Amino acid sequence: MKIENVIKKFNGDDIYRCPKCSTNCKINNISLVCENNHSYDFSKKGYIHLISNYKPTKYSESLFSARKFVFSNGFYEHIAYEIASILKDYNLINVLDVGCGEGYYIKFLKNIFSNSYFYGIDNSKDAIECAVKDDKINPYMLANLSNLPFRDNCLDVILNILTPANYNEFFRVLKDDGILIKIIPTENYLKEIRQLLSSEYNNEDIINLIESNCKVISNKRVTKTFLLNEEEAENFLKMTPLTFSKNVSEDIIKKLKEITIELEIIVAVNKK
Ligand SMILES: C[S@@+](CC[C@H](N)C(=O)[O-])C[C@H]1O[C@@H](n2cnc3c(N)ncnc32)[C@H](O)[C@@H]1O
Ligand SMILES: [Zn+2]
Repeated sequence: MKIENVIKKFNGDDIYRCPKCSTNCKINNISLVCENNHSYDFSKKGYIHLISNYKPTKYSESLFSARKFVFSNGFYEHIAYEIASILKDYNLINVLDVGCGEGYYIKFLKNIFSNSYFYGIDNSKDAIECAVKDDKINPYMLANLSNLPFRDNCLDVILNILTPANYNEFFRVLKDDGILIKIIPTENYLKEIRQLLSSEYNNEDIINLIESNCKVISNKRVTKTFLLNEEEAENFLKMTPLTFSKNVSEDIIKKLKEITIELEIIVAVNKK
């Protein structure tokens, strides 16, 4: 991409801050530059790299390619529509998807709310490079969710979907009337894969953590079960951290005949 088109994707307003020294940053020519002259270049690939001493994470290219396949076949559309129906009640200027992965929700929502900015940040280069490959519109940043490159009180919404949270940091960057949409698995999420791997799960601990850090204003379970062909089964097994460091055999792929996508969608605000 031409570098000027990359920069165009980013809101020129004064909302950025330096992840190194926390002073304000401004877009200056082809870089984002802070008051102490720390400078981050926009990349022709279509994003900005804000992590010094970057080390690859276990979220790798093959996981994001598999996720892209799964998303493009509509398995998470019921979740995306539910997010859109929440967002329609808010005045959206700046929305941040924290741990955006390959950017499915950003691309989906930008189609509906075309005047808003949908930022994607992730600390996996493979995620961000997968996201920008087919997205010339939305601004993506390689950054860590516990050190967000945004100033205090400048975002309207944070999406935090199947990704770790840092509530202090989220409420620092959210406006006073901003909302957090936190989406977590239920015990039924991918239960067919959990059964094959003999692993159990419930989300009580995460819910307790959310309730002790935020004021929950709504909470809804959204669910759908799909039949799978073998190609879909293989991609589901590759797209989930449940199979990290596990050998996915042909036998397991053949046994995975259906899949349940059940997530809990929690809307929360700052407790203070
Ligand atoms: C299970 S994936 C979910 C991705 C996406 N939200 C989705 O629903 O498809 C978790 C994502 O969180 C990202 N992640 C994990 N720790 C992170 C951190 N400290 N800062 C930023 N991103 C992080 C991973 O790279 C990965 O893309
Ligand atoms: Zn700085």
